[in-house]
Amino acid sequence: MKQNQDALIQDYIAEHTDALSPLLQDLLKETETITGRSRWSIGNVEGRLMQFLLRASGARSAVEIGTFTGFSALMIAEALPDDGLLVTCESSSAYAEIASRYFKKSPYGRKIRLEMKPAIETLKEISDNSVDFVFIDADKPSYGLYFDEALRILRSGGLVFVDNVFWRNKIFKKPISNENAKAIAAFNQKVKTTDGIDKVMLSVRDGIYLIRKR
Ligand SMILES: C[S@@+](CC[C@H](N)C(=O)[O-])C[C@H]1O[C@@H](n2cnc3c(N)ncnc32)[C@H](O)[C@@H]1O
Repeated sequence: MKQNQDALIQDYIAEHTDALSPLLQDLLKETETITGRSRWSIGNVEGRLMQFLLRASGARSAVEIGTFTGFSALMIAEALPDDGLLVTCESSSAYAEIASRYFKKSPYGRKIRLEMKPAIETLKEISDNSVDFVFIDADKPSYGLYFDEALRILRSGGLVFVDNVFWRNKIFKKPISNENAKAIAAFNQKVKTTDGIDKVMLSVRDGIYLIRKR
C-alpha cells in the first residue's frame, strides 16, 4: 500500500515538473546501455531542483565533484548564464568519454570544463572565495574532505548541494555496517556541527543536504 502511494507521488511529481530534454533522454538511455548505471545520475526532478537553486541564487560559477556521464553537469550548465562556467571532476576515463561526447552535442557544453583526475587535485587548484555553487556527488568516504574544500572555495552566500545523504537508507539501519553508509553518517554529523553555515536536509530521492556558507 505504502509502496503504491510512493509510486503515485513520484509519478505525480514527475508529471508536474519541467520535462527532460530529448538530448538528456538520449544520454540516460546510452548511459544505461553502456554502464547499466543510469540510476547514478540525479534524474530530472533533482536536476530541476538544482537548476532552480542555481537560478534563484544567481550563480555564475559552479564546481561539480563526480561527473559520471554528464547528466547533472548539463543540467547545471543550462542554468548558468551565457558567460558562466562549470568545472566538473571525474576520475574515470570511460565515463568522461561519454560525458565529453554529450557536452559537444549540447548548446550548454561550452560552459563546461571537464577535469579528468582525482577531484581533490582539481579542488586544490581553485582559489578561496571564488565559486558560487558546489555539487558533491562522488566517492562517499571523501565527502568530509570535499565539504572542507567547498567551504574554502565558496564565496560568502554560496551554496553546497550534496547528494546521497541517506545512502540507500542504509544510514538508518543501526548499527551501520556498510562502509559508505558509515562515511555518510559521519559526514552528516560533521555538517550538523559546523558553524557559519545555514542548512536543510531534504528527502528527495536518496537524500539531499543543502548548505549555504554565511
Ligand atoms: C554518482 S556518480 C555522479 C553522477 C552525476 N553527478 C550525475 O548526476 O549524472 C559518481 C562519479 O564520481 C566519480 N568519482 C569517484 N571518485 C572520484 C574521485 N576521487 N575523483 C573524481 N571523480 C570520482 C565516479 O567515477 C562516478 O562517475
